[in-house]
Amino acid sequence: MSKKLVILGAQWGDEGKGKIVDLLSERFDISVRYQGGSNAGHTVVINGVKYIMHLLPTGILHPHNIGVIAQGMVVDLKALQDEIADIEAKGNPIFNKLYISDRAHVVMPYHKLLDKLLERKNGVGTTLRGIGPAYMFKFMRKGIRVVDLFDSTIFEKKLAENIEFVKDVAEKVFGERFEIDYRYIEEEVLKPFEKLKERVIDTAKFLRENTKSVIFEGAQGTLLDIDMGTYPYVTSSNSSALGLANGTGLSPKYFRDAQIYGVAKAYLTRVGGGPFPTELHGEEAERLREKGGEYGATTGRPRRVGWLDLVALKHAVDVNGLDGIILTKLDVLDGYSEIKVCVAYEYNGKIYEEFPASLEVLENCKPIYETLPGWEGSTQGITDISQLPTNARKYLEFIENYIGVPIVMLSTGPQRHEYLFLKEIV
Ligand code: GDP
Ligand code: IMO
Ligand code: MG
Repeated sequence: MSKKLVILGAQWGDEGKGKIVDLLSERFDISVRYQGGSNAGHTVVINGVKYIMHLLPTGILHPHNIGVIAQGMVVDLKALQDEIADIEAKGNPIFNKLYISDRAHVVMPYHKLLDKLLERKNGVGTTLRGIGPAYMFKFMRKGIRVVDLFDSTIFEKKLAENIEFVKDVAEKVFGERFEIDYRYIEEEVLKPFEKLKERVIDTAKFLRENTKSVIFEGAQGTLLDIDMGTYPYVTSSNSSALGLANGTGLSPKYFRDAQIYGVAKAYLTRVGGGPFPTELHGEEAERLREKGGEYGATTGRPRRVGWLDLVALKHAVDVNGLDGIILTKLDVLDGYSEIKVCVAYEYNGKIYEEFPASLEVLENCKPIYETLPGWEGSTQGITDISQLPTNARKYLEFIENYIGVPIVMLSTGPQRHEYLFLKEIV
C-alpha cells in the first residue's frame, strides 16, 4: 500500500506548514515541493535551532528523507545553493538526497528586476523574489528551464531573447534603462548550476517509480492560489491542491488515494496587499501581531492580522477536498476573554455564506461575527487533549461544525514537540 499525504495552506500562507510537515515527514521516505519558489518561508524549530526553508521541502531535514524539487517550481539556483549550504553548516548533510526537476523553470536575475518594476504599478506586495515574472516567462513560452542549462547554445539563445524582451519592457513600459550585467548571470545562475547539476533528474518519472511513502508540501495557501484565491492579490501558481498534478507531473489519478490536510491558524494573517474582511487594526491588531510573532519568515514584513474567517476556510475545504484541518497557533489566543469568528459577509444588503469571486465584494463586505468566550489557562505547549480547556474545545467544535470536516491535529507552540493529534492521520 502506498502512503501519500498532502499538507497545504488553507489560508493566505504562513499557517505553520513548515512545523507540521517537519513533524509528519518523519514517517515518510520522500518529500516534495511542487509549486512556488523562494517566496515561501517555512519555519521549523528543532531543539531550539531555527531553520527557514524556502525552496527545499521541509522533510529533507530528516536524515532518511529524500527531497524533491518538482517541475512546477520556479527555482532561484543561487538561493537554493545558499539554502543547502546553510543547512549543511548546521551539521545536516542533504545534498546527496535532493533531486531537482529538469523541467523546473529557473528564476533569472531579471525576473527579480521585473518583479520590482511591476510592483510599482500593481502594489500586490510581492516578496520580490521574481516569482510572478518567472511564471510569466513560462507561460509566454520564453522561460529558461533547468534542462536548458545543460546546453550552452540553447541557453545563450534563450537568454539573448529574454534580455531583449526585458530591455523593451523596462524602457518602453517603465522608462528605465536596462543593461544586463553578465556577472549576475554567472554568479546567480551558471556557477550555482555547476554545483547543483548532478542532482537534476526527471522528477516526475522518479515519483512514478517511487510511490511507497510520499509527502507533498504546498507553499503559500489556498487564498493565494492564482485561480481560487483573491485574484489579483495572489501568487502566480496554483497553491491549492489544484497545483498537485501539474506541479509534480503526475496524473490526477495518482492522487486518488492521497490524504489532503489543510493547515490553518486559529486566527488569520496575510502579508502584502489585497482584501482581508476580518482584518484588525490599531491596538487590537498590535496585540495579536505581537502575541503571534507575526513577522514574515521570508521578508520580515509585519503580517496583517485578523479573526478567523470561516467563510474563507470553508472555501479552502471545498477547493482542496480537505480530509481535515490542522489548526496551529491556538496558544496565541490564550488570554483573550472573547474570540470572534466570521460566519458570513454582508455586502449591499446581501448575505454571503460562500467565498465570492468578486474582489469588489471581498474588499467592501462587512464580516458577520459570532463571539465565543475565551478560555482560562494556557494551551501553550500542551500535548494531551485532557489539558485542553473546555472553551478551547468549544472553539474547535464551532469551527468543525461550520466547515464540515474534523480538526485532526493541533499545534500549540513553535517547537517540534508542541502538538497533539485529535485523530490519527498517518
Ligand atoms: P509556513 O510558511 O506556513 O511554514 O509558516 P511560517 O513559518 O511562515 O510562519 C509560522 C510561524 O509560526 C513560525 O514562526 C513558526 O515557528 C510559528 N509557529 C508554528 N506553529 C505554531 C504554534 O502552534 N504556536 C506558535 N506560537 N507558533 C507557531
Ligand atoms: P509560505 O509558503 C505568505 C504573498 C506575498 C504577496 C503575494 C504574491 O511561507 O506560506 P509573490 O512573491 O508570490 O509573487 O507574492 O503572495 N506570499 C506569501 N504570503 N506566505 C507565503 O509563503 C507567501 N508567498 C507569497 O506576500 O501578497
Ligand atoms: Mg511562511
